Amino acid sequence: MTTADADTAVEAPLDPVLREAAAGGVLVVDFGAQYSQLIARRIRECRVFSALVPHDVAPERLAALAPAGIVLSGGPASVWEMGAPQLNEALLGLGVPVLGICYGMQVMAQALGGEVAKTGAGEFGKTALQPDARSRGRLIADLPAETCWMSHRDAVVRPPPGFGVTARTQSSPVAAMEDPGRGLYGVQFHPEVAHTPFGTDLLKTFLFDVCDAAPTWTATTVIEEQVERIREQVGDERALCALSGGVDSAVAALLVHRAIGDRLTCVFVDHGLLRMNEGEQVEAAFSRHFGVPLVHVQAQERFLARLAGVTEPEQKRKIIGEEFIRTFEEEARKLGDVRFLVQGTLYTDVIESGSRDGSVIKSHHNVGGLPEEMAVELVEPLRGLFKDEVRAVGEELGLPERMVWRQPFPGPGLAIRVIGEVTTERLDILRRADHVLQEEVRRAGLYRELWQSFVVLPAVRTVGVQGDERTYAYPIVLRAVTSDDAMTADWARLPHELLERVSNRIINEVPGVNRVALDLTSKPPGTIEWE
Ligand code: XMP
Repeated sequence: MTTADADTAVEAPLDPVLREAAAGGVLVVDFGAQYSQLIARRIRECRVFSALVPHDVAPERLAALAPAGIVLSGGPASVWEMGAPQLNEALLGLGVPVLGICYGMQVMAQALGGEVAKTGAGEFGKTALQPDARSRGRLIADLPAETCWMSHRDAVVRPPPGFGVTARTQSSPVAAMEDPGRGLYGVQFHPEVAHTPFGTDLLKTFLFDVCDAAPTWTATTVIEEQVERIREQVGDERALCALSGGVDSAVAALLVHRAIGDRLTCVFVDHGLLRMNEGEQVEAAFSRHFGVPLVHVQAQERFLARLAGVTEPEQKRKIIGEEFIRTFEEEARKLGDVRFLVQGTLYTDVIESGSRDGSVIKSHHNVGGLPEEMAVELVEPLRGLFKDEVRAVGEELGLPERMVWRQPFPGPGLAIRVIGEVTTERLDILRRADHVLQEEVRRAGLYRELWQSFVVLPAVRTVGVQGDERTYAYPIVLRAVTSDDAMTADWARLPHELLERVSNRIINEVPGVNRVALDLTSKPPGTIEWE
């Protein structure tokens, strides 16, 4: 680690947007586990604020945030490895209850004089848990703790002095330990994953019985806090927001509108690559229903003109990106003096970019498509929220269900689903077929279960026969996937009856299509989109 990194950790253990919320919440000291984020999400699902802090956080800085509890996350390292992330022992002596999970329990045990060993017998997956018959301790107490989910190689073989062992498994002599007098708890298994059936109950015991946290993290309090924060940040100035039609920018815009009213202007660039009625839905929701000043830019023709003859996917993306910025710049210039740009950055983006600070970036370069000479400050009211929380806030703000639960949709829109050249005629075919699929998926009650469901128009035609006539027309490919984060995806097993209805309707209702195919590719090896 460089000195600069160390300084940042000392200076800013938490993103500024999150600092105020931390008091009374539970902070997760991140030792690098893939599950660290999940721990924070699970805690928030119990309505207690939670956020990640780096493992090298200075204890006094963490204490200054006044959390009700601390969780030490798991991590991929072995405590015996050179350079393994270390626990600053002072974190255990702040008078704040601590729960160590997996690696977090091991570093706790090691720091306090217990013994961690390479047993040579790791445990991975569902494992039978044997709570101590005489003393199940405070954490496990009355929970139906029979199976748990494990993922570890090293194990605590002797707890630190003062700790009682409250559960074991075949390969872990210390699967759970605690020293309630000092408020220190450790579990080798993962209560945050769904495969530990009593996991949420265990977290609740820690949050409410041990830490005495209050369940106050709700959409309502998030809205109140953010509205106040936005008012402070923006003052009497004006702000601009680019609406995409997606849930993030929509919720960000509504929060800012609630805070500063008509001093927010939204710009919605309709590039003509949207799905059926999408532009109208955005206009209806924002302008008519919420009364948000909205500039609906009808830019279909200029985008199509620039896409004429272009077939290469990356070139399409580049053209659309550039044209979007140009259009947005033109509108921003017309509006004159705008100091703030609203963006729907999520907490997951903040964690992934490794950012420990910096919500208020003064920018003289091109942020979110504003002109280079325009100095803007970002307003990012969703910087502390996970996607499901953004949806809850959207619902609370009255955003229509259709927009709150919209499946992800790529910026370049239908252009990367029309394979080959993008023309008005081909976009129209795709749009109509897509509309049929969306209707039927919603009717089947599957819309929210699917990460994405859409159709693709390949650049080939095939022979068919309809009403005694030979046809030579396009096929439509159905693509539906399930996924948690779009990094990997599985093709969705749609019911045959649904597929049959969609296929019949597309062929009967969409001129220019004579065949429907289904994409059975997961990611990897495929990507979700075709281009
Ligand atoms: P792939 O196709 O790479 O997509 O598996 C992963 C997720 O990202 C979306 N996607 C995009 N989103 N601009 C976007 O804003 C793009 O150029 C773009 N390409 C793909 C895709 O819909 C999926 O959710």
